[in-house]
Order: sequence, then C-alpha cells, then structure tokens
Amino acid sequence: MATLDYSDRIIVVTGAGRGIGRAHALLLAARGAAVVVGDLGANIDGSGVDGDDPATQVVGEITAAGGKAVACTADVSTEDGARALVEAAISTFGGLTGVVNNAGIVRTAPFSEVPDEEYQRHLDVHYFGALRVCRAAWPHLLQAESPRIVNTISQAMLGNPGMAHYGGSKGAVFGLTRNLALEGMARGIAVNAIAPGAGTRMAEAAADTLSPEVMEYMRTALLPEHVAPVVAYLLHPSCTVTGEVFNVAGGIVNRLALVNTVGIHDPELTVESVAERFDQIMAITPDAVPQVVAPAQLPVS
Ligand SMILES: NC(=O)c1ccc[n+]([C@@H]2O[C@H](COP(=O)([O-])OP(=O)(O)OC[C@H]3O[C@@H](n4cnc5c(N)ncnc54)[C@H](O)[C@@H]3O)[C@@H](O)[C@H]2O)c1
Repeated sequence: MATLDYSDRIIVVTGAGRGIGRAHALLLAARGAAVVVGDLGANIDGSGVDGDDPATQVVGEITAAGGKAVACTADVSTEDGARALVEAAISTFGGLTGVVNNAGIVRTAPFSEVPDEEYQRHLDVHYFGALRVCRAAWPHLLQAESPRIVNTISQAMLGNPGMAHYGGSKGAVFGLTRNLALEGMARGIAVNAIAPGAGTRMAEAAADTLSPEVMEYMRTALLPEHVAPVVAYLLHPSCTVTGEVFNVAGGIVNRLALVNTVGIHDPELTVESVAERFDQIMAITPDAVPQVVAPAQLPVS
C-alpha cells in the first residue's frame, strides 16, 4: 500500500505533552502534518499544574526532526482554552483539518468516597474539554477538506474498580462522539473515538486497581506508539468511518460495537412473560445488529 500522506493536514492534539498524546503528535508530524501540541502540564489528578512545560518539549522534538508544530498551554476544560487551541492552528498554520481530544486526568477511589467536585473535574476535562474544543473547531472544520475528530474514551466507561467518576465522564464523551458523528455526517466531518491502553503516567496512577502482573505488562508491552497509528488512520481523508469506537492497546485493535439483540415483541407483555423469555431478550444471535450512526433528517448546524 502507498504511504499515507498528511502534508495537507493541520491537527490539534490535546494532552500531547506526555504519554499517548505525545505519540500521536510525533507520528502525525513525522508524516508531514502541522500539529498544535496542546498541554497544560497538569497534575495527574487535574488538581493543578506541575510546573513542567511538556508541550514545548514535544514541539522541540518535532522541530528538531524537521517537522511543523506549535505549543499551546491552554486548559481544554475552559471555553477560552479551547478557543486558544483552535486559534493556534489558524494563526500559525492557516487552518484546521482535525482534532484529537486526548487530554485526560485520573484519580482512583471508591464510589462513596469521591466528592462532587472530583466528578465535576473529570467531566470538565474529559466531557466539557472535548465538547468545547469540538465547538471551537467546528466552523473551521466545516470549511476544511475531509475534516476529522478523534475523541478518547476508556474501557473504564464499561466498569473499572474505583473509577465511577472517571468512567462516567468517559461515557459522556462516548455519547458526544455518537451525536457529533450524526451532526457531522451531512457535512463530511467524521467523528470517532478510541479506548486506548498504554503504560503511561496515567496507568501508573491507576496501579492500585490493577495487579502487579498487569502493570508490568502495561509498562513493557503496551506502548503509546502502539496507539498512535490508529488515531492517525482515523484522521486520514481515506478513512471515512464515523461514530465508531476502537479498542487500541499493544498492537491489538478491535471495534467496540453496540449491539441490539433481536429480543422479543409481545404487546401483551407481563412481568411473567419478561421473566420467561429473558434468555431470548439477552441472546446475542447472528442476526443481532450493531447500532451504527445513520443519516437522519436533521437541521444542519
Ligand atoms: N493510559 C491508559 O492506559 C489509558 C486508558 C484509557 C484511557 N486513556 C486516556 O488516554 C488519554 C491520554 O492518557 P495518558 O495515559 O497518555 O495520560 P498522561 O497523563 O500521560 O497524559 C495526559 C496529558 O493530558 C494533559 N492534560 C490534563 N488535563 C489537561 C487540561 N485541562 N488541558 C490540557 N492538557 C491537559 C496532561 O498535562 C498530560 O500531559 C486520556 O484521555 C486518558 O483518559 C488512557
């Protein structure tokens, strides 16, 4: 297959100073894309900044290798920060063709011990961060050739110990992804998400919920560089899929599909008929259908 080219792509990657986002930025820039490397330098739990400037360090790596990048230390969770990231692309590179919402935070704790403010903080970075960057980017993406958005969710959305606040906020990003995919469909904006796994600072912060064997496996076999090729493909004009989620870790890539089972149809439904036919409701038979995003009669924004 011919090498996929990114030389006409201008992409904002949030949380690109470390971990998985850094790998996205390095790969995209190495393929010729102009990249806005967004990173606030946040503490892992989002409670403040740690004084590093990882965005500038990554831009240094990219430019030393002959690539095009600019740093932006804006906070994705604020309206002004989201606008600043998009503005960095417009003012430095003259446009915007894609966004990777990757910035993230985590702290693990049992459900009953997490205060409201921590739920809010996870929603602010993951859900409102992705929402605000998408909203700031949308008018520019509408003018771009083959515009693309990739959001970052997590298997924790489906249930992980001590992650009700984190997983819930990622579930919100999943809902946002599907709905923006629908709205973007008529205008050619493809919107997908990945659920990555990699032995980053974030994985270390969740070590108390994982076995030592899993942690060692993550550190040695699940590298951020294994995640970036999938994100780069989802950003390429030749990839037209939308509203989908992919699990990506250590070279494994699979589709996370929502399936409607065939179930039952009984207008005389009773509690007992539900109980009697529960196995049929649950059964994932060969004719169960994945629920995909489909064109709809919608006002286009
Ligand atoms: N590592 C994993 O196994 C894993 C699993 C599931 C999901 N994820 C998701 O992947 C993404 C990347 O995670 P990672 O493991 O590379 O983490 P990481 O901590 O190494 O990197 C995340 C980066 O996001 C930045 N950031 C945080 N809040 C920000 C804000 N408000 N504004 C701008 N930048 C901000 C941080 O400064 C940091 O550099 C996150 O969304 C995370 O939830 C990771």
